[in-house]
Amino acid sequence: MFRTILNRTDDLLNRIQSRTAQLIIRRFPFLISPRVHLVGRGRLYQRVRFTGYGSIVIGPNFIVGCVDDGGYKGGCLDLNSRYANSRITIGRNVAINNNVVIICGNMVEIGDDVLIGNSVLIMDHSTHGTYPEARRSSIGELRSVVISDNAWVGSRVVILPGSRIGKNSIISAGSVVRGIVPDNSIFAGNPAVLVKTIGE
Ligand SMILES: CC(C)(COP(=O)(O)OP(=O)(O)OC[C@H]1O[C@@H](n2cnc3c(N)ncnc32)[C@H](O)[C@@H]1OP(=O)(O)O)[C@@H](O)C(=O)NCCC(=O)NCCS
Repeated sequence: MFRTILNRTDDLLNRIQSRTAQLIIRRFPFLISPRVHLVGRGRLYQRVRFTGYGSIVIGPNFIVGCVDDGGYKGGCLDLNSRYANSRITIGRNVAINNNVVIICGNMVEIGDDVLIGNSVLIMDHSTHGTYPEARRSSIGELRSVVISDNAWVGSRVVILPGSRIGKNSIISAGSVVRGIVPDNSIFAGNPAVLVKTIGE
């Protein structure tokens, strides 16, 4: 019952754009069901939906959407911190474009100065089991995702459970990442592979 009321409040907040929503979230964090902690000011040109029962910590100068694209386009950044122990951490100066979905069962960590293009999907578990009998009862293995400082994730990239993207690295548009991307690398394709080392 209480949870339903909180979720309704979420919906209300999620429909309020920008500074008002941020102010309410910062002053009255208990009003929304995931434990959201906004550090400093951000610029929200897109709607943000906070869902789940876990925590979401967002650093200063967080930018959602792109003002050069005309700002609000009817899409949404979906931050789903599913369970009580789930944790999404977003560092300082992170910019995330339209229609990005982050599904977190354990931990999704995004470092400082990271850029994420539009329509990116990041998940730290597959949400269904692979065995036919467990397809609906299992959520798959929880494997944390880390996107390190100053990485750039291009549009329509999919980042699968257990992926780690190194510092300054770039993921080319439309790639599917699974596993380790070393620092200063450009990865592309499905599965994404090294196509260039930055600085060489
Ligand atoms: C990552 C990116 C910026 C690299 O650009 P770049 O430095 O100009 O790199 P290039 O186009 O020269 O590509 C480097 C190599 O990677 C290869 N490559 C690039 N993208 C690839 C892909 N999706 N699949 C396979 N290979 C790819 C190129 O063929 C090239 O190989 P070659 O040197 O043997 O010819 C660019 O590929 C990209 O994804 N741009 C879009 C970014 C985006 O989504 N922006 C909007 C949201 S923020």
